[in-house]
Amino acid sequence: MKILVTGSSGLIGSEAVEHFDLQGHDVIGVDNNMRREFFGAAGDTLWNLERLKSKTRHFIHVSLDIRDRAAIEQLFSSHCFDLIVHCAAQPSHDKARDIPILDFEVNALGTINLLEATRQHSPEAVFVFLSTNKVYGDSPNEIPLTELATRWDYARTEDFNGIDETCRIDRTLHSLFGASKAAADLVAQEYGRYFKMNVGVFRGGCLTGPSHSGVELHGFLSYLVKQTLTGGNYTVFGYKGKQVRDNIHSHDVVRAIEEFAASPRPGEVYNMGGGRQNSVSMIEAIDRAEQLSGKKLNWRYVDENRIGDHICYISNLSKFQSHYPTWKITRNLDNIFEEIAASQTLRT
Ligand SMILES: NC(=O)c1ccc[n+]([C@@H]2O[C@H](COP(=O)([O-])OP(=O)(O)OC[C@H]3O[C@@H](n4cnc5c(N)ncnc54)[C@H](O)[C@@H]3O)[C@@H](O)[C@H]2O)c1
Repeated sequence: MKILVTGSSGLIGSEAVEHFDLQGHDVIGVDNNMRREFFGAAGDTLWNLERLKSKTRHFIHVSLDIRDRAAIEQLFSSHCFDLIVHCAAQPSHDKARDIPILDFEVNALGTINLLEATRQHSPEAVFVFLSTNKVYGDSPNEIPLTELATRWDYARTEDFNGIDETCRIDRTLHSLFGASKAAADLVAQEYGRYFKMNVGVFRGGCLTGPSHSGVELHGFLSYLVKQTLTGGNYTVFGYKGKQVRDNIHSHDVVRAIEEFAASPRPGEVYNMGGGRQNSVSMIEAIDRAEQLSGKKLNWRYVDENRIGDHICYISNLSKFQSHYPTWKITRNLDNIFEEIAASQTLRT
């Protein structure tokens, strides 16, 4: 296959490049290191690009901006793709507040640029769009919760497995990031439903793994482990530090993309996270990071939560698992923490 990966120097993009390159596919990666522009030096992804160049055999990198429609058009005119894995994004909830236009241009306009180029030049291709659980805004916070010693949890048994795809995405507070991703999510669905293209939309919970260039505003586990190992500071925002996130290793995300690519369902939407088994609260995560490293994290608590932040979010994976029964979570929280710590140690 000829595969295009956007955001190829980022967490999910780089995992996809490595995975498909290892299988002998031709992989073209698009990334302009914009993560550095969003988050400063700590967000620089060039280390990951260098790592990919040294590890891969069939990988070609193109430093191109997905907002640049003419450049995208040229790329698609030169290659006929079988699979497009679209991971390039402004990925931060909070950052979008400072750069609303740029956020929308990258997330919404960049996505339609790629979808339309696919329709014009590679209409048979499978197109996977990495969306986010922030498209649900804060509607998951309406679910009744119970407060346990170290975490919030769902109070009703019917919510035990978490949030499914029927959760509403409008009439809720998203943050501008959630809104730009929701725009892209809807447009991507439309290319699947209206044009009957092989488009799949994956709404991520916390996607994580060793190749994240974690920063305070994005990549919570990676950043938390980094701060613990290096003696940096960490701030927990609101909800008594008991807010829950479900974490999925980038390898398991890419395996899900691979399953979808082998048997695509046009316009489908899937929640994609670690599920209940890989869920952790902030204070539980701090405890794990400290145990793993043998170091104390310098963390402080501020009462005010981030606007629109989820209190307890666990992805319900039933729909994806019923459509793709051979897929499963292969990396648990211990594996994830250990891999992130090992990668941080190598980088420092
Ligand atoms: N990591 C998470 O917790 C998470 C959760 C839910 C959804 N997602 C979504 O998954 C996708 C991948 O996330 P990630 O964690 O790998 O992000 P990442 O920031 O690690 O990777 C994104 C990459 O895209 C590149 N990029 C940004 N703007 C670009 C542009 N205009 N042109 C070309 N390249 C550009 C960046 O330089 C970066 O390397 C994103 O769409 C994100 O919104 C991530």
